[in-house]
Amino acid sequence: MTTCLVTGGAGFIGSHLAEALVKQGHRVRVLDDFSTGRQANLAHLLPQHIELIAGDLTDPKMLRAALHNIELVFHQAALPSVPRSVEDPLSTHRVCATGTLELLAAARQAGVRRVIYAASSSAYGNSERLPKRESDPTNPLSPYAVAKLAGEHYCACFSHIHGLETVRLRYFNVFGPRQNPDSPYAAVIPRFIQACLAGRSPVIHGDGQQSRDFTFIDDVVQANLLAASAPGVSGKVYNIACGHRTTLLELVAQINDLLGTNIRPVHTDSRPGDVRHSQADIRLAQTDLGYQPRVDVREGLRRCLAFYTADRLPAQK
Ligand SMILES: NC(=O)c1ccc[n+]([C@@H]2O[C@H](COP(=O)([O-])OP(=O)(O)OC[C@H]3O[C@@H](n4cnc5c(N)ncnc54)[C@H](O)[C@@H]3O)[C@@H](O)[C@H]2O)c1
Repeated sequence: MTTCLVTGGAGFIGSHLAEALVKQGHRVRVLDDFSTGRQANLAHLLPQHIELIAGDLTDPKMLRAALHNIELVFHQAALPSVPRSVEDPLSTHRVCATGTLELLAAARQAGVRRVIYAASSSAYGNSERLPKRESDPTNPLSPYAVAKLAGEHYCACFSHIHGLETVRLRYFNVFGPRQNPDSPYAAVIPRFIQACLAGRSPVIHGDGQQSRDFTFIDDVVQANLLAASAPGVSGKVYNIACGHRTTLLELVAQINDLLGTNIRPVHTDSRPGDVRHSQADIRLAQTDLGYQPRVDVREGLRRCLAFYTADRLPAQK
């Protein structure tokens, strides 16, 4: 049994990860300030299975308390939105970049063994070559991407200088149950599903031909669990994705197909800071971590629809 801290553990990815760690028999603590996360995401695990600390990652006192006797940190806390970072770059920087630096410094002091960092595929920007490899040049296009990449560099730096083990997992467009469709910064899949379930047209920024490597939450959890124990991976970075790309128009078509509807999307202007295409080369994670994506986009959408119809939108069925 290991004692783990999940920062941002009340969020979408963090809550699934915390749940998986509890299932594996680990002792789990969560640090979250609920800026985008919700206590309801952990309701089924509180208070017996998870110790919850409500607080801000950028507060060193809070971090000291959260890191006491911790061996492994899964650092998920962030303000994870490109448009939000365009509107308010300083808040994004404070949480994603400064918060990560604070965490690493405190983790080192506390004698943490390994920090697994939720990095972002946004680090690649609009690089021409697909699929994107970890060795490709980075070209962050938004304040969010810059701040997440700064966090990556701090991780690598702390491994290099201080010997603190860090592993960076570059997630590609994660989706799954519990992802919040209501936020003004909601990700595309919960937004599209919510619109289609309500019989409304999903709104696409741009022509809909932009593509993403949509990655189901269970595969991201799998990657984190593998990264926690894999030998010889400290200081390294791995793409975590499905390995295929889907355009937004294909996404709408698949949701329609699963729902038996024929709802057409509406198009608005493209958004500044968004990348055009994204697809990962996942061979490094497969070789070094033993990672293998198990849920494709269609199956993932089916599970999301089951969740949103059962748990979130009963009135609109
Ligand atoms: N969802 C994706 O597609 C995706 C893709 C690439 C990377 N990521 C990264 O994965 C991580 C988790 O993302 P998510 O989709 O679960 O988002 P989320 O918003 O659901 O989770 C982030 C959590 O961090 C918490 N948080 C924010 N600021 C905090 C602070 N100052 N102190 C403590 N807690 C704070 C929020 O309350 C929330 O619970 C983030 O680091 C994000 O950058 C996500």
